[in-house]
Amino acid sequence: MRIILCGFGVVGQSFAKLLESRSEDLYARYGLKPRIVGVFDRNGSAIDPSGLDINRLIDVKKKHNSVKKYADTKNSISGIEIINDLEAEVLIETTESNYKDAEPGMTHIISAMKRGMHVISVNKGPLALAFPSLMEIAAYNQVLFRFSGTVGGGTPILDFAKNSLRGERIISFSGILNGTTNYILTNMANGMSFNDALDDAKQKGYVEADESLDLDGLDAAAKLVILANWIMGMKVVMSDIKITGIRKIDSVDIKRAAEKNSAIKLIASCNKELTVAPKEISTVDPLCVSGTLNAISFTSEHSGTQTIIGRGAGGIETASSILRDLIDIRNESTKT
Ligand code: HSE
Repeated sequence: MRIILCGFGVVGQSFAKLLESRSEDLYARYGLKPRIVGVFDRNGSAIDPSGLDINRLIDVKKKHNSVKKYADTKNSISGIEIINDLEAEVLIETTESNYKDAEPGMTHIISAMKRGMHVISVNKGPLALAFPSLMEIAAYNQVLFRFSGTVGGGTPILDFAKNSLRGERIISFSGILNGTTNYILTNMANGMSFNDALDDAKQKGYVEADESLDLDGLDAAAKLVILANWIMGMKVVMSDIKITGIRKIDSVDIKRAAEKNSAIKLIASCNKELTVAPKEISTVDPLCVSGTLNAISFTSEHSGTQTIIGRGAGGIETASSILRDLIDIRNESTKT
């Protein structure tokens, strides 16, 4: 299975290493023989139709902050040229999410689908802005589109709701879908001010380069859009979500909640409407997880409410979700 990898940051590199370390096992257990034939970052690209050498690729990236110097050639081919010209079965999109125009990820995904490639995206931007259209483009071009890593990192939240609860009718769900704000609110519950908690989260590397994506609820809203479309069959985009972030929460709010054995959490919910907002929840609610954890409770017609909890971010965790999607694509595409 030939793969084009868009973006070679923490997630892209973790995924490449994971493929390398699991190659024998992937073949033995799943008949999967993946090889990365093209990779690009914002500074350049590397290609080898017979498969790139992962260790060399990672060394080059470390030394030059780009994969561009992988080969000795002067000019490297642009990402979009690679997508349009290189033969591959799967495109994996790992470039940064943005919620203004979702580029360059949107163009990568659409171009690959039009060429008949299956697509795996951990970039939330294109899904948040255009989920319904992307599903239509995938169906029209008869390709598979998977995005497990966009919600919950390595925690299989989408799989749980879609597959484990198949046949059920999910009536509503609510959850903590952003680890950074959960970490900040947990620190505040332990006595820190908002600014100190934010600084601490920044030092630990949790906060997005654009902090507004976490603090103003955009990251959680993007995940809510993906869940609402994929799980509930709604056709919604980011502008359909009512979003309130955590910037206005202060120590007084936190103390008041604690007196009622509650905690303030940034909750994304799909009930009568789709909202992201800080809410008080009981400390004995299974949803009330601390630190960077994510948690989501699904309420279904017959089987009641179930909560799934796990780490919602991280390079290797997200890489494991890409691998899950790849195995899924392999299984689905060999069915016919
Ligand atoms: N900024 C996100 C979070 C990263 O804190 O959960 C994972 O999407």
